[in-house]
Amino acid sequence: MSATPATRRVAVLMGGWSHERAISIQSGTVIFSHLAPARYLCRAVDLTMDRRARMLAPGCVPNEAAWRRARPQGLLDAFRALQRWGVEVVIVALHGAGGEDGVVQGFLEMLRLPFTHSGVRGSALAMDKEISKRLYASHGIPTPEYLIIDRARPRAAQLRAVRLGWPVVAKPPCLGSSFEVHIVPDAPSLRRVVQRLLALDDRVLLERHVRGREFTCAVLQRTPQAAPAALPVTEIVPVASPFFDFQAKYTAGATREITPAKISARMARELQRQAVACHRALHCGCVSRTDFMTDARGRAFALETNTIPGMTATSLLPQAAAAVGISFAALLDIMINYALLQGGSTQ
Ligand SMILES: Nc1ncnc2c1ncn2[C@@H]1O[C@H](COP(=O)(O)OP(=O)(O)OP(=O)(O)O)[C@@H](O)[C@H]1O
Ligand SMILES: [Mg+2]
Repeated sequence: MSATPATRRVAVLMGGWSHERAISIQSGTVIFSHLAPARYLCRAVDLTMDRRARMLAPGCVPNEAAWRRARPQGLLDAFRALQRWGVEVVIVALHGAGGEDGVVQGFLEMLRLPFTHSGVRGSALAMDKEISKRLYASHGIPTPEYLIIDRARPRAAQLRAVRLGWPVVAKPPCLGSSFEVHIVPDAPSLRRVVQRLLALDDRVLLERHVRGREFTCAVLQRTPQAAPAALPVTEIVPVASPFFDFQAKYTAGATREITPAKISARMARELQRQAVACHRALHCGCVSRTDFMTDARGRAFALETNTIPGMTATSLLPQAAAAVGISFAALLDIMINYALLQGGSTQ
């Protein structure tokens, strides 16, 4: 009798309670569709806004109708059920607070469930742009000059903002998808933006505005012991928006993404070197994607590192992988294999 190929039992976590919930459902649904049924028996799990879980039957394709039929249950009950089912790997397709910042990673680690992407430490470090920038700087990776406005003493810092020049970039330190990223032209506008951002977080990150081109570079680490290696650099050219804002990120045709970027080999190598340095500095695992701006003189500045880059069919990480012959399915195999080798322990 011929042996049937082993089918791994995997769960794809999506949704979550951050403002990137809808993007995560897209990422998770696309991931699910690329897991070959011959090799993977897969369950989709939605972490809901009220921190419960809706779980679909094994092999059930996630879509609106299927989710509507799924009854939400408590998180612990859902994960116990997954364990009883024999889940071997949890694919974390969550973005933003709760899902990409170490919270879900800590929960999975406590349950000893192997999971994809970065562990608790890398997730928490990369989620906080102030901490990331401190770590970049201490590893010699250039990042735009910045200052932090603290809710306790907002005035003094706003006065010091002058040294960053105008316009200045104001952003919440722990959000993604360009949510509430503002390019602020002058001091009166800054006061208004700061007030608005202090309602979201007790810190506001102000950065020198880097005028030039935008690039992103993904890094792939095939095993926990392997050296991380950069994928080709992508240039990001928003067609209508003044910068890579929410609309430019998620509207079809709103941005031209050029992989590999049309830049000199020297510049590509430099961005790739810096992306790998960021991956290491923030203790990322398996994959990361660092965003950069370059100035008129071609100097690169790291803006931030994403530990769970988008995984829709047109997302930047799958595009970069495809450029070196790694298919979407092969990228998932690498992530699942990494999680199995890591084995649900501290990453
Ligand atoms: N210092 C800067 N100078 C020029 N443009 C900037 C600067 N900081 C941010 N931007 C623009 O704003 C966009 C969003 O900024 P950033 O990547 O820091 O935020 P994000 O919301 O975390 O993004 P992501 O969706 O990748 O997680 C950048 O892609 C870039 O277009
Ligand atoms: Mg970004």
